[in-house]
Amino acid sequence: MKLAVYPGSFDPLTNGHVDIIERGTRLFDKIIVAILVNVEKSPLFSMEERIDIVREVFKGRPNVEVDTFDGLLVDYVARRKADVIVRGLRALSDFETEFQMALMNRRLSPHIETVFMMPAEQYTYISSRLIKEVFSLGGQVRGLVPAIVERRLSEKQKGNVHVS
Ligand code: PNS
Repeated sequence: MKLAVYPGSFDPLTNGHVDIIERGTRLFDKIIVAILVNVEKSPLFSMEERIDIVREVFKGRPNVEVDTFDGLLVDYVARRKADVIVRGLRALSDFETEFQMALMNRRLSPHIETVFMMPAEQYTYISSRLIKEVFSLGGQVRGLVPAIVERRLSEKQKGNVHVS
């Protein structure tokens, strides 16, 4: 069984992430969407909400699992008995940090391979940060995030939560 881990913050999940997960399921038997528990950052979506969103978007898909992790990514990957890390590459600007992370992870755990996947062209410019910014300023994000994310963003705005 070929198991891959797709790590990230997913605050929130975008259609770019969904596209990478879909592509990943064609290459691997199972993809674990691993959400980083980052105590330093103050995320817009709580961990429970982010888990909920992935579960909702991929319900009925036993080959997509959602989990959380903290500490070193390679330790988590080893604990899950996986040997592949999936990361999305959008533009050249992603390359430098991704390259550094991939090589650092390889140094830490030489048997774990990082696989980069390109999302569909229409998602190459989307990021969670930009989605939050555009939405908070009244811009339309339909088609760029799953419907459940759009709904939850609107709910937060109605509840006067500062979105961005
Ligand atoms: O969605 P993001 O914020 O780009 O994801 C970054 C993530 C979670 C993949 C990265 O920050 C990470 O792996 N953090 C865990 C800590 C770790 O292992 N650091 C060393 C990696 S070189």
